[in-house]
Amino acid sequence: MNLGGAPAGPAGTGKTETTKDLAKALGLLCVVTNCGEGMDYKAFGKILSGLCQCGAWGCMDEFNRIDISVLSVISTQLQTIRHALVLKLTNFTDVVLMRALRDMNLPKFVFEDVPLFLGLISDLFPGLDCPRVRYPDFNDAVEQTFTDNGYILLPVQADKVVQLYETMLTRHCTMIVGPTGGGKSVVMNTLAQAQTRWERHCSDNDDC
Ligand SMILES: Nc1ncnc2c1ncn2[C@@H]1O[C@H](COP(=O)(O)OP(=O)(O)OP(=O)(O)O)[C@@H](O)[C@H]1O
Ligand SMILES: [Mg+2]
Repeated sequence: MNLGGAPAGPAGTGKTETTKDLAKALGLLCVVTNCGEGMDYKAFGKILSGLCQCGAWGCMDEFNRIDISVLSVISTQLQTIRHALVLKLTNFTDVVLMRALRDMNLPKFVFEDVPLFLGLISDLFPGLDCPRVRYPDFNDAVEQTFTDNGYILLPVQADKVVQLYETMLTRHCTMIVGPTGGGKSVVMNTLAQAQTRWERHCSDNDDC
């Protein structure tokens, strides 16, 4: 049961109710999702990610309605989770969680609070070391933009550009704060130019 299952039978015979009842009898949370044609692999991936993190059961109703091309991706996602369950892995999920917590929150802290936050994170995930992800083409574009504009290439400042990029992907409104002359405008303009450079690079090469 731990590795997933698919009750089969005619419509209206109680497959969903049986699954829900079994989860209830075992004292487990069971989240029922009504699948449909509009469901893509990203939406489904988010549901799976949530289920994995809280250990709840997921009951996917009308699974057959999902588009066949999406189903093939979902099968890979399910296989990955099944594989992790068979091997009793816990680390993969930890790394993703730590990265999300760190990368989504770190840009919001003022300089003095950063060591405090990193200390808290390492207390939560003792012994876990995961370096920041490098976006190969985008980071190159950022570094090239700094150099082309005659600025000194500072890794901390280049990371600020990436942090601003990541923040703008997930927030509706972003404000850059910092001391006068601290390089805020340079970071903002570098991001704009680097994204233009990156887009051009991607439209010239199909590998992006
Ligand atoms: N990596 C760098 N190499 C060289 N000079 C830099 C670099 N980053 C910023 N500067 C210079 O530092 C100065 C201050 O940068 P910037 O104007 O971006 O600061 P700011 O935080 O926007 O300031 P303000 O609060 O006044 O708007 C500018 O003259 C800029 O050219
Ligand atoms: Mg400025």
